[in-house]
Amino acid sequence: MCGIVGCIGHEKSVAFLLEGLEKLEYRGYDSAGIAVHGGDELKVYKARGKLENLRNLLNGNSSSYSLKAGIGHIRWATHGVPNETNAHPHISSENKVSIVHNGIIENYKELKRELSERGVEFKSQTDTEVIAHLIEDFLNQGHEFCDAIRHALKKLDGAYALGVIFKEDPETLYAARKSAPLIVGVGKNRNFIASDAPAILEHTKRVIYLEDNEIAQIKSSSYKILDLEGNILKKKVETLPWEPVSVSKMGYKHFMLKEIHEQPDVIRQTLFDKLRSTDQPLNLKEVKLTRQQLENLDRIQVIACGTSLHAALVGKYLIEEFTGVPVDVEASSEYIYKRAIVSKNSITIGVSQSGETADTLTAIKQAKAKGSHVLVITNRPDSTMAREADSLLPVNAGFEVSVAATKSYSAQLMAFYLLAIFLAEIKNSLPAERIEEYKKELIQLPQKIEMILSNKEKIHECAIKFHNTRNFIYIARGINFPVALEGALKLKEISYINATGYPAGELKHGPIAMLDETIPVLSVLAPGKVYEKVLSNSEESKARNANMIAVTSEENEHLEQVFDFIINIPYTDEVFSPILTTIPLQLLAYYIAEFLGKDIDQPRNLAKSVTVE
Ligand code: G6P
Repeated sequence: MCGIVGCIGHEKSVAFLLEGLEKLEYRGYDSAGIAVHGGDELKVYKARGKLENLRNLLNGNSSSYSLKAGIGHIRWATHGVPNETNAHPHISSENKVSIVHNGIIENYKELKRELSERGVEFKSQTDTEVIAHLIEDFLNQGHEFCDAIRHALKKLDGAYALGVIFKEDPETLYAARKSAPLIVGVGKNRNFIASDAPAILEHTKRVIYLEDNEIAQIKSSSYKILDLEGNILKKKVETLPWEPVSVSKMGYKHFMLKEIHEQPDVIRQTLFDKLRSTDQPLNLKEVKLTRQQLENLDRIQVIACGTSLHAALVGKYLIEEFTGVPVDVEASSEYIYKRAIVSKNSITIGVSQSGETADTLTAIKQAKAKGSHVLVITNRPDSTMAREADSLLPVNAGFEVSVAATKSYSAQLMAFYLLAIFLAEIKNSLPAERIEEYKKELIQLPQKIEMILSNKEKIHECAIKFHNTRNFIYIARGINFPVALEGALKLKEISYINATGYPAGELKHGPIAMLDETIPVLSVLAPGKVYEKVLSNSEESKARNANMIAVTSEENEHLEQVFDFIINIPYTDEVFSPILTTIPLQLLAYYIAEFLGKDIDQPRNLAKSVTVE
């Protein structure tokens, strides 16, 4: 959700800023901009829309003093429509300060009023612009550069990751952070700042994680980290656990399609790392609780947003089924405004692909402050959430570029399967033979996904038939209910078609009133406890003339009578079915969006990492 980059000491600063922004485009694409030193002034270039527009604007017009400080920004609009004026970098009235910002300044209206009364003219509708004017105001009062930033920050309420450059201090790049991610990259005779590691990985793997209320004063060969009182802090330089990211689509038309196809390998890798043998107990050494604590565990709460929330809902079903321990799942944005209830024998699990989602981060901090052990399941072991965690269970899906999550979701599901089995073994809550069978079946899953991926015709046909529909309904029960939610979310995210997932038994309590021949109903029909029930709910929908689609491993005449389209998947035990039933739903959403010509990897209004509340 907005990305910032900056550099000092780089001989090709404009090229660095553009490449860095390209790696951060998943964070927003409403506008892009950079500010660099050019002659004796700060030069700001910005363009509405994607980075490509900024590149076109800069074509042949990127003269800047290399080696001097530069900053760049990619925007996901919060305050003010996405246009050129509201695009960052913002510049102060007397053009002395330019800034880029990720976050929200909550008291910006009050500050804007104060500054306006003193004659400052505002150009944009953003909350950010006040920061540039405030810093300039302190400069004009005689404070030196870093002090001017410190004093300005003290007046701000809200969240910020900031990059700041000054016209009269061209050899220094400044940065600051509060409740929004920011790293300082330490290079050789050049240093960097970025919202996320991919932007700087090709240049350095050595980073300093800025903490809240810290300011970085960065020169090309040195840096200082200070607190808001101006005290110099000792900070550790850490090594990023990543190799430079390939942004190649590897021949696929979109990253989303590539990432869908990576799922078998992602699961294989997880199993290779964690499940070395099927007849030995799992050793999840990442879970830093004693055996006694695990045996006594009597409640788990899970907090997450978006697709991660759906993975958490599958996790609830699994842990409850395997161990009998009650699991509450809550959207982080709801959790943070309620009384947090934690007890001695409970733990809190935060699930997040990015490890930076603001609501989930706040939620786990609240749970931790109440004394709960916090286990984080994330795809980013270098994220803020990972650093907050008492136990860290990384999911290793690799970088996910497409905004709509696919492979990270499957990897999160695997984390829950492993955790549920691990707890069941410790609590002795399932027969050993059953656990062994489960482990054997887990190993079969990647191959079964590959079978779905090599047999996509029916899904394609279905997409052709329904790509013009305006409303879609997904139904399922039990462990596949979250899959219905996830399938509907995927379709909404990338095709903008209204899609809703319902527990199949709830259809008759209201939603069935909507059904007619214009609405497709997709039933997730995994053989098991609720198969017959979902089938009979599907028949109720068929009786209201809905277009019926099934995702199932069953094949029989009765199904052919009820359903217009049957998407067949391989059989697996009901408890593992979400791993398989999700895949056709991801592909269906993908093909529908493709037929509609949508911007699949960067859907409108969305960002991959939502770092504001
Ligand atoms: C955004 C993304 C979703 C994602 C959600 C939670 O809304 O567009 O794809 O599921 O954030 O993100 P997280 O990184 O916490 O899993």
